[in-house]
Order: sequence, then structure tokens, then C-alpha cells
Amino acid sequence: MSAPDAAPYCLIVDDEPRLRQVMVHLMRSDGFQCIEAGNGVEALEQLEKYTVTLVLSDLRMPKMDGFELLRQIRDRFPDVAVVMITAVADVEIAVNCLAIGAADYVIKPYQLEDVRARVAQALEKRRLILENRAYRESLEERVQQQARRLEELFLASVQSLAEALELKDPYTRGHSIRVSQYSSIIARCMGLEGEMLRQIELGGHVHDIGKIGVRETVLNKPDRLTPEEYQHIMTHPVLGWRILAPLLGDTPNALNIVRSHHERYDGRGIPDGLSGDSIPLEARIAAAADAFDAMTSDRPYRASEMTLDLAVAEIRRCSGSQFDPSVVEALIASAERGELQLLPRTGMHPVAAGKV
Ligand SMILES: [Fe+2]
Repeated sequence: MSAPDAAPYCLIVDDEPRLRQVMVHLMRSDGFQCIEAGNGVEALEQLEKYTVTLVLSDLRMPKMDGFELLRQIRDRFPDVAVVMITAVADVEIAVNCLAIGAADYVIKPYQLEDVRARVAQALEKRRLILENRAYRESLEERVQQQARRLEELFLASVQSLAEALELKDPYTRGHSIRVSQYSSIIARCMGLEGEMLRQIELGGHVHDIGKIGVRETVLNKPDRLTPEEYQHIMTHPVLGWRILAPLLGDTPNALNIVRSHHERYDGRGIPDGLSGDSIPLEARIAAAADAFDAMTSDRPYRASEMTLDLAVAEIRRCSGSQFDPSVVEALIASAERGELQLLPRTGMHPVAAGKV
């Protein structure tokens, strides 16, 4: 009886044609399509050609013996179940075969029923291994899907916070986007990339979120702020940090920007009075970008904005006092190269645009 085309392939490897025929007969009657090889080298050739489920292999063969064949099968065709056929004298080797991945072994002279039972067990073991792997892979896929979903939810919550602030302080809208983009330009000029760059863009976008807690009369005041009002508005870095800390746990550099973008290089900034390199680099970058945008934009309390050249000159003047000289250098270099240009006053929300 010949097996149907969809039947699994069984490769029988033995240097004695007569013994192969016995096996072929047995395995065919169990529903396999049988292919044959007289040694390990031929067996590997067959394995290249056919998708084999099961190999029954003799141990002692010319050219390449069963032990070496098994090693190669484990390396190159790990999904194949291998059952070794062995003489009593070789039982020790057969046991070693188990150690390197044979599913089982059968001792010659064998009873056909015994071969059948061993083969059935080997196939069951193979099925479990494959199922286990498929399950693991589908789990990994689900974990990745959930991570993507979490990322989306995270961006959505950041977006709704940003939108809440924009409703309260229309100026912030364009400002946050521009600070994000200016920071990104300076950071790239300083050789930053990858995750750090992504966090700098995110941090720039949300750096003023704490202004949600600032009174609107102060936020939109057209005149100069009183010292009390100034103090009130300057609570926003810590307020923003407190709001975002639970959300930005995985993006600490973005969170640093929120808290420390009003620190000064000379240590006279807020909220922590940090100075020099103890201010996180990402915050030193955002501080310069923030000031650059403030100078070149209309603010409620400032009648007109500066040109790019004037703003760059002003930033240069404050190098070493308000700003980190290396950040200033990068800002100037990117302006000279034309990478830093004044951005339009309105723009698409970067979260909505999928850029953050
Ligand atoms: Fe700010």
C-alpha cells in the first residue's frame, strides 16, 4: 500500500538494503512516505530535498556513521525526530545519542511492535516540542502587541495632557512643538541619536506641562509679571515633573527635561540650583532651545520677537552663565549650517502627527 502525498516523510538510513526494506514496509504500513539512504552523507542529501518528519538510522555505516549524522541533523534540521537503530554491542553509543538529541533507540534484532512503539513516542515528543515552540512564539507576539498598545495608550495620555494645556495657554501649542524640534536639531548636532533623541523630542514636547497648574491670569498676562507671579509660574517644572513622573518612568531623559529645563549652567536656575554637568545634558539642550524659541516668538509680555541672528547672538552672550557652552556651540553651528531655522508659529501636534 503506498502512502498518500500528504503523508509525512520517513527517512530510513541503513547500509544493508534488506534491512531498509523491512523498515520501509513497516513504516509505509503506518502511513509514512518512505525515502532511503545507505549512509549519513546520502541521508543529508535526502534531508535537503524532502521535508522529513522522522529519521530511522543505523549506527554503523560507511562514509558517515549514525552518530555523526545525528549531530548534523540536530544542527541543520532540528525539527526532525531521530530514532537510532543499534546492535547490542553499541548500546553505550546509542545512549550517547540520546544525550545529543536522538528521540530514542531500538536494539537489533528488534520486534516490529517495539519499533512502532518507539516511533510513536518519538513523534509525540516532537509534536509537543513543536507545539511548545509555537505557543512561545505566539506569546512573544502577544507581548509585543501589548507593548505597542501600551505605547499608544501612553502617547494618548501625554497628548490629552498637552491638549489640556493648549486650551488653557494657546501660546504653548506652537512653543512645545518648536522646542521639541529645536532641541532635536541641537542634540543631533551634538551627535545624539536613537532612544536619547526620541526622549529629547518627547521631553521638549511636554516640558511645560506643569503650566496646567498655573493661574490663567498669570499665564496670559500681557504686562510684566510681579515677583509673586513669576514665582508662581516658575513652579511649573516641579509641577510638571510630579504630573509626568508616573507616565514617563521608562523615559527618564524626557522627565529630566520637564524638571530641569529652567536650570542655569552657573547654578542660579530653578528648581534645584544645579550647575554645569550636574544638569542632565538633555535639560541643558532643552533650556537653550526653550530660550531660543521664547526670543523668536511673540509672548504676551513681549511686544516683538527677535530675528534668528539676534537670538543666536543673545544665546552666545549667555554661554557659560545661563547655557552650557557646548550646547551653545552646537546651536550656533546648526544655525550656521542652516539646520536651525525659525519654525512657523503653528504646526501639527507632533503626537497627532505620530512624530513623538
Ligand atoms: Fe518652562
